[in-house]
Amino acid sequence: MDQLSQAILSRALAPGRFGRPIYYFPVIDSTNEAVRRLAGEGAGEGAAVVGDVQLQGRGRRGRQWLSRPGEGLCLSLLLRPELPPARTAGVTILAAVAAARAIEDVAELRPGLKWPNDLLLEGRKVGGILAETGRDRDGKGCLVLGIGINVNGQDFPSSLRGIATSLRIAGGREIGRAELASALLSRLEELYRDFHPGGDLSRALPLYRRRSVTLGRRVKARGPAGEISGIAVGIAEGGGLRLQLDNGGETVIASGEVTLRAEGKRVRNDQDLG
Ligand code: BTN
Repeated sequence: MDQLSQAILSRALAPGRFGRPIYYFPVIDSTNEAVRRLAGEGAGEGAAVVGDVQLQGRGRRGRQWLSRPGEGLCLSLLLRPELPPARTAGVTILAAVAAARAIEDVAELRPGLKWPNDLLLEGRKVGGILAETGRDRDGKGCLVLGIGINVNGQDFPSSLRGIATSLRIAGGREIGRAELASALLSRLEELYRDFHPGGDLSRALPLYRRRSVTLGRRVKARGPAGEISGIAVGIAEGGGLRLQLDNGGETVIASGEVTLRAEGKRVRNDQDLG
């Protein structure tokens, strides 16, 4: 079984700011909670937590995130971008690209990205991103970026079968989670350098569009304003999803979740330019 420890992680890390310091917990409530606590204790940007088993691992929309011993990479990172709130959603886009590239680097697999935060292999979910806000001890806001990747699991509980996959199932070999964590932190740091002053996604967006499995598809979107459907025609500058509505109009969904409708007519979209 792939071993993880504080020493193994520290040895695997490439030079850089992200993952310094890095903490490892064999069992933790949630790595996002652990980073939130570190933020409250005054930790700096780049502090990271990796957990093997999370007892209260969470996904978006209050869902549970399954983590079984030895199987997943559960990593959370403390960020302190000075951004207007409308720009912080872009961190999810940036993190999805970084995670896809890290998987390409280490596992030689090419995940597709389902807007905004799902990583898919062969149409099944292999990873996801959960960005949350936190607070310093002096009340200043920060971001907790949580990334979960199904790495070495060989099966899933029946509720997830057919929906989830792992790098091992898709690639047929065991992947070192420390090496993957190191690649992930390096890829995150690389993209964050351009993003940080002002939330600029111009470097990450073409990389996101190229990997998108949402663009060109008919989707049903659930957002704060309820449910709408249309064709996904682009990713807006801030990371929102551009939808062409059935009445010919266009709208941008800033956050939320989409369901991809059955493959039918694909339309030309800005992915074709990538
Ligand atoms: C999703 O796809 O719904 C997001 C999943 C995010 C899971 C990760 S695992 C590391 C971090 N800690 C958590 O409790 N959640 C995130």
